[in-house]
Amino acid sequence: MSKERLNRPKIILSTAISLDGQIATLTGDDKLSNAEDWKRVHHLRAKSDAIMVGSGTILADDSKLTVKPEYFKPGYSINNPTRVVISSSGNIPLDARVIAFRPEIPTIIATTSKCPPAQKKNFLREGCEVIICGKGPLVNLKQLMSILFSDFNIRTVLLEGGSKLNGNMLAEKLIDEIHVAIAPVLGGTGKPFFSLPYTVSSFTQPPFFEILENKIIGDMIWLYLRICYESSRMI
Ligand SMILES: NC(=O)c1ccc[n+]([C@@H]2O[C@H](COP(=O)([O-])OP(=O)(O)OC[C@H]3O[C@@H](n4cnc5c(N)ncnc54)[C@H](OP(=O)(O)O)[C@@H]3O)[C@@H](O)[C@H]2O)c1
Repeated sequence: MSKERLNRPKIILSTAISLDGQIATLTGDDKLSNAEDWKRVHHLRAKSDAIMVGSGTILADDSKLTVKPEYFKPGYSINNPTRVVISSSGNIPLDARVIAFRPEIPTIIATTSKCPPAQKKNFLREGCEVIICGKGPLVNLKQLMSILFSDFNIRTVLLEGGSKLNGNMLAEKLIDEIHVAIAPVLGGTGKPFFSLPYTVSSFTQPPFFEILENKIIGDMIWLYLRICYESSRMI
């Protein structure tokens, strides 16, 4: 285990992207995965202690963030990971499926002191856990990872987007691996894979992504990558 990971979970970012690196179109279409890719996603979810998304993804997709039994052999004992939603303002509808669907599966709302106390009470009443990470403007992601590790015994987190959370998690050097499925379509000026909070001036700028594995699955390419935060690409 690397020194940086001593008090945080292992974090894998999993996503499907278009050939031009978009995770959704401007009008909100994010249906990029084929059937085999959905199977990959659900098997990865089942192996994780937590699935994490940003509030933008919940507001756009109303995701349930559960594991679907149809992707497993009959009789397989399915683990449904804890669901973690990041929202500094706490602006998540109480009837969002991540809260209301299968309430016996734990959901954590990770927020800041900007979240109104009444909304915090609402989350608790609906059975969610609430973690306050800083004063804002955004959730302190390093602090959150350390709390998930030490207080919730979470050792593996599957990050499932969207653009802004992916970008800030990468900028904080919190992502260890990326499992990306590339679809042979274009997304145009939609939602990029990473919305980075800094400018990239050269392709020699770290981080560099080492390819661990690649596969063609139907009409998609899967790339499994390890992130090397301190090194550049050597060509
Ligand atoms: N193709 C795929 O596999 C895939 C997967 C997932 C999502 N998507 C798409 O991605 C899009 C959503 O992406 P998005 O960029 O709009 O939203 P996002 O990354 O899901 O959520 C961003 C929001 O999270 C909250 N937040 C709080 N602290 C944060 C922090 N430290 N860093 C980042 N965010 C923080 C902020 O809202 P608050 O005001 O609530 O704090 C922020 O606006 C949707 O269109 C969805 O369909 C695609």
